[in-house]
Amino acid sequence: MLINGQAQDLLSVSDRGLQYGDGLFETLAVIDGVPALLDRHLQRLQAGCQRLKIDCPDIGLIKQEIALEAKAVVRGVLKVIITRGSGGRGYNPADAAQPSRIIYTAPWPEYPDNYRTEGVNLRLCRTRLGWNSQLAGIKHLNRLEQVLARAEWRETTISEGVILDTSGQVIEGTMSNIFAINGSEIATPKLDQCGVAGIMRGVVIEVAQSLGYQVSEQRISVAQLKQAEQLCCTNSIIGIWPIRRFEDVHYAVGRFDQQLLEGVMALGFSHEQAASR
Ligand SMILES: Cc1ncc(COP(=O)(O)O)c(C=O)c1O
Repeated sequence: MLINGQAQDLLSVSDRGLQYGDGLFETLAVIDGVPALLDRHLQRLQAGCQRLKIDCPDIGLIKQEIALEAKAVVRGVLKVIITRGSGGRGYNPADAAQPSRIIYTAPWPEYPDNYRTEGVNLRLCRTRLGWNSQLAGIKHLNRLEQVLARAEWRETTISEGVILDTSGQVIEGTMSNIFAINGSEIATPKLDQCGVAGIMRGVVIEVAQSLGYQVSEQRISVAQLKQAEQLCCTNSIIGIWPIRRFEDVHYAVGRFDQQLLEGVMALGFSHEQAASR
């Protein structure tokens, strides 16, 4: 683990990341020492820093430190956390010291490989996401809504939960973005009031468009999710998971577009890695 470039694992309790969740993070897949979709992750990190008015540490430096941490990892997860650093008066960020940068790797989560081919079960969460256009889309450190939503179930047969906003529209999964597929049309929730604009979501949109799908970002109701021909959820670690069941509705996973699946895996994790799975 590197904290501000030093091999250490302790950060001051006065750090605003701990005090207020005043910061941002990225979670990347690392395969054979290569962090997947690195530039896209770093762009979102920079955009998040701009939104929160955190002085983003030098991207070249962050890249160097990521390379150092990732180089010995065969298959793992790399996390980058940037906080506003220590200091300021209470919530007032004026006079905060230098931003902190934390970079470390963790083992690959043990998701069965057949989730990608056979799909997963999805539930509907009771926890709702509040609206705040200033925070919508970015991957900030305040994740209590996701923690509450994920605490709603313990069954291992359920892999992900759909979260709605306070107006009852579908926004995303607890750790992923959601897509509904109907023929040649793919819809994914608009994220202008809440939700994380996932890197893998961007990849799916690109791949789907290149395959001739009409992709739109729109308001999506639970009824629309249930009526969709197919659903899938995405993030930078899982790639793309087709949905087998959402609450009481079953979907025909066997018909899931293999080209879309493979295209996303190929772009998301590079061609060689996708081919070797
Ligand atoms: C709440 C939430 N939404 C969406 C995503 C997907 O983001 P990405 O594709 O960048 O991994 C994540 C990833 O962890 C998440 O936590």
